Formats: sequence, structure tokens, C-alpha cells
Amino acid sequence: MTPDVMSEQAWDERYRRGDAGGWSGAPNAVLVQEVEQLTPGRALDVGCGEGGDALWLASRGWTVIGADLSGVVLERAAVRAQGRGLQVAWEHRDVLTWSPPTTTYELASACFLHPSGDNRPAVHARLAAAVAPGGHLLLVAHAPSHAATLTGTPFEGLPLFATPEQVVADLDLDAFDVRVAEVRSRASAGHGGHGGGVVEDVVVHAVRRVPA
Ligand SMILES: C[S@@+](CC[C@H](N)C(=O)[O-])C[C@H]1O[C@@H](n2cnc3c(N)ncnc32)[C@H](O)[C@@H]1O
Repeated sequence: MTPDVMSEQAWDERYRRGDAGGWSGAPNAVLVQEVEQLTPGRALDVGCGEGGDALWLASRGWTVIGADLSGVVLERAAVRAQGRGLQVAWEHRDVLTWSPPTTTYELASACFLHPSGDNRPAVHARLAAAVAPGGHLLLVAHAPSHAATLTGTPFEGLPLFATPEQVVADLDLDAFDVRVAEVRSRASAGHGGHGGGVVEDVVVHAVRRVPA
């Protein structure tokens, strides 16, 4: 079952209060690291939030769909896109129930989406199914070590964090080559007083094999 704190209403309220995201407009460094050498094509960014990644991809020539559960944040992302003269198709979607078009995207990415444990394999399978032959799947999330920083927040105790091995186990390894599956450290300012300092992310980058 999806915990309430992950509902559309909860995300909308979080964004209205301004305690989700940083309004930096910057893409996730890990996305830049993993994607900057790729040839632009069609990209799907699920849980796109304020659109930092989607806008960076669009600025690099990708044709981008930014999908998110929160209508509030999608409106903000659209304003940002307009202000920067960038085209992104913003889609109001719940990835717990929505299946993106299959084998369509040269990049499907989800950064810090954090589907809860029982939903995670199905969500990852849907995102993987969206990747075109030769295309890339990028899944980035806080590492399990992040759970310790959430004491006293609504996220305390939720099964939101998985190891690289657990994320890889969600993938069909007959269809995907795993290029990266690791815990990567980075400096973070944190959110709302939580999670700052050096933090660990789980990074899984896989490529769909091209049928012979
Ligand atoms: C922690 S934010 C990450 C935003 C952005 N990817 C980033 O890295 O800054 C998680 C985002 O996932 C969205 N989200 C949560 N559950 C979702 C769902 N079931 N379907 C689509 N988006 C969802 C939230 O609305 C939120 O914008």
C-alpha cells in the first residue's frame, strides 16, 4: 500500500509549503555525469519535480517528457521552461498506476522518486519497459543510509530505500546490461534541515540490449 505521505495531496502540499526541492533549477549532478556523453533522443523523466533534470535535458537537445504526480510542481516547472524558452511536455501522472509507452525512449530516468518497497519492483519494471532498444535507464535514489536522517519526519520508518543489488533485481537482465550499480557519495545541502553533509546515493544505469 502507498503510504499517505507519498500521495498526490501530500506532494502538492509539500510543494505549496516550499519544503520540497530547492528551486535551484539545477539538474542532478549524477544525471549530468551519466547522460552528458549520450546522443540526445527522446527522454522520459518520471517524478520530475521542479524540472531541473528535464530542463537540462531539453537544453541539450533531448525531446523530453517530464511526468509527476504533483500538479502544483508541474505548473512551476512549466513556468520555468517558458522563462528559459525550453520545450518540455509536462504530464500529470501517477507512476503507480500509469504505464508509459513501451520501448519508446532513448532515456528513461527517475531521480529520487522513491517508490515504497512493495511498489518498487513494478515501478522499476514500467520504467524499464519504456526504454527503447539501445536506450538507457537511469534510477537514482537515496541509499539506505539516508533512512537515519529522517527521524522525526513524516518519512521516518518507511521502506523507501533500496540497495543497488535490490534495484538491479527489479530489472530483466536478459533485456538489460547493467553499466553502473553502486553507492555514490556527494555533498548535499539537505532539505528542510534534514540530510545535509555527505550523502550516499544509489545509482543504477542500465542499457537495453538491441535484439540481434
Ligand atoms: C524527491 S522529489 C524528486 C524530484 C526530482 N526528480 C529531483 O531529483 O529533484 C520526488 C518527486 O516524485 C514525485 N512523485 C512521487 N510519487 C510519484 C508517483 N507515484 N508518480 C509520479 N511522480 C511521483 C513527487 O511529486 C516529487 O516531485
